[in-house]
Amino acid sequence: MLFIAKKELWDAIMEHFCIRPFKHEDIDFAYKLNVMEQWDDTRNDIKRVFDYEPNGCFIAEINGKPVGHVFSISYGRLGWTGLLIVKAEYRRRGIGTLLTKTAMNYLLSCKVETIKLEAVSAIADLYRKLGFVDEYDSLRFTGASEEITSLPNCSLNPLKREGITQLAEFDAEYFGANRTKVLHRLYQENPQLCFVSRMDSRIAGYIMFRKTKSGYRVGPWVCNPESPQVARGLLMECMETTGQNVKLYVGVPAMIKAAAKILQDFDFKQYSKSIRMYFGEKLETERVDGVFAIGGPEKG
Ligand SMILES: CC(C)(COP(=O)(O)OP(=O)(O)OC[C@H]1O[C@@H](n2cnc3c(N)ncnc32)[C@H](O)[C@@H]1OP(=O)(O)O)[C@@H](O)C(=O)NCCC(=O)NCCS
Repeated sequence: MLFIAKKELWDAIMEHFCIRPFKHEDIDFAYKLNVMEQWDDTRNDIKRVFDYEPNGCFIAEINGKPVGHVFSISYGRLGWTGLLIVKAEYRRRGIGTLLTKTAMNYLLSCKVETIKLEAVSAIADLYRKLGFVDEYDSLRFTGASEEITSLPNCSLNPLKREGITQLAEFDAEYFGANRTKVLHRLYQENPQLCFVSRMDSRIAGYIMFRKTKSGYRVGPWVCNPESPQVARGLLMECMETTGQNVKLYVGVPAMIKAAAKILQDFDFKQYSKSIRMYFGEKLETERVDGVFAIGGPEKG
């Protein structure tokens, strides 16, 4: 009896349910939800993800009040979705699924053929039920930056604005799509936190990092896998820039042993993992072997 009463109440609530486009004014709501989940994103991180693809972000609303959100971003044939949260009291009623479906439909309408995401393991079934397939584990490491006493064994330079086009071409070989809009924005916000290594004028690797509430998030960190010393040098440059004893967070595809080895050499510890999943066509254009760190679980 109680169950029926609850169901009727819920049906009445859902009559006033809708999913609508995310607006700039929703950033504060999204930030509050992120704080409640104890995610490390800053308000600016959320604004940045919204700015990448304003038409690809959505709010679930009941009686005119926001109760959840999802974000997405398209890179030509590849799309990403993430930052899915539903307020705790409205969970297990299908809202997370409806938000994800809305983001997927948006990406498919942009002619995206592959959609990727990183799922918190406990809720991966939500995505499996929508047709997403498990791809690999994505490990989360954290550690403190160390004092750098020796010079990196490769040539490194700060990234320059005019180098972004070449950098995006190098990055696309590994990421699988051109993500100039993301690389450009990260550079624009923090040019001093972007470094590139070249060998005979060809790019051998690069690293970008940005401040979060409790430290720095490292990534993208992409290198030619034949030159792991470049990857090591780039991480050392990152530590040199942040200064000693600052917390760094890095997301690494589980099969990239070279990245895990470098991080472990600097005493980083794995603290969690997510599941990389995809929907649609298997992406044939990527080379994960050069992805030492993802840019972020919300955009790849
Ligand atoms: C993840 C989240 C958005 C799901 O929202 P939701 O509205 O509860 O999701 P749905 O009701 O559509 O769930 C659909 C299915 O997903 C799975 N699922 C959802 N939440 C789950 C949980 N906490 N544990 C296990 N399975 C879960 C179930 O299979 C569920 O079907 P069921 O209720 O019939 O068993 C919500 O739990 C949340 O905001 N969590 C905190 C933030 C987070 O982890 N975001 C996901 C990042 S990948």
